[in-house]
Amino acid sequence: MPLTYKLIEFSELNSTNIYAKELARAGEAEGTLVTAQSQSEGYGRMGRKFYSPDSSGLYASLILRPKTDCRKALLVTTAACVAVSEAIDKLSGKRSGIKWVNDIYIGSKKVCGILCESAISKNNGLLDYLILGIGVNLYEPQNGFEDDIKGIAGAVFGSEYRKEMKTELQKEIFDNFARYYEDLGSREIYCKYREKCFIIGQKVNVIKNGAVFEHTVCDIDESFRLITKNDSGEYYLHDSGEVSLKCNI
Ligand code: BTN
Repeated sequence: MPLTYKLIEFSELNSTNIYAKELARAGEAEGTLVTAQSQSEGYGRMGRKFYSPDSSGLYASLILRPKTDCRKALLVTTAACVAVSEAIDKLSGKRSGIKWVNDIYIGSKKVCGILCESAISKNNGLLDYLILGIGVNLYEPQNGFEDDIKGIAGAVFGSEYRKEMKTELQKEIFDNFARYYEDLGSREIYCKYREKCFIIGQKVNVIKNGAVFEHTVCDIDESFRLITKNDSGEYYLHDSGEVSLKCNI
């Protein structure tokens, strides 16, 4: 069955992911999409804060219930990356790229972060629900980005605020995502993701258990693991849950 959406909109929330999780635990159906104009406690991967001021971003969380095990969570993240990046390209006329595993950049600036959180059913070990959270910086906030993210955060659009751009981008993102969700794990998604992944060939810092290694990114395999190589030519395979990356862009 194709994914259909039921929209629940807020002017302010602590976090659309937190709210969507509460709904999902109470039995809310797949396709419910929670949005907020601002979030007081928006967060990203590894518990990092996601700055979510009013009228400058798109903050949305979608409840999904794929009938599968938890490995699908990564496929949802990667399908969402392609859906968002293509939507941004279409509506902004700019070329965005994916930084493995869940960030979208325009040039050297991060304009979007994606966070999937899942819960596993005690009965059968399959996924009970999965929350797909997407945060896009549409415009630079009136007082600029906060000091700790000033160097890396950027916005999709220029300074003049147009409310309809948010509506259009939201529609484009979730239309794209609904198509990709029908065929999670497809070769089409993998090829598009890999093609948009701008870190392939770059030197990066791989951060694992607090240690930092300077490696070159060689490729992404079909399970979306990162293949890197050190200066001695030794190869490494990384799962997304285990490492984070710092790029020199
Ligand atoms: C990241 O950068 O690591 C992911 C950021 C995800 C932010 C979005 S905004 C909507 C949803 N609600 C949250 O609290 N987080 C996600």
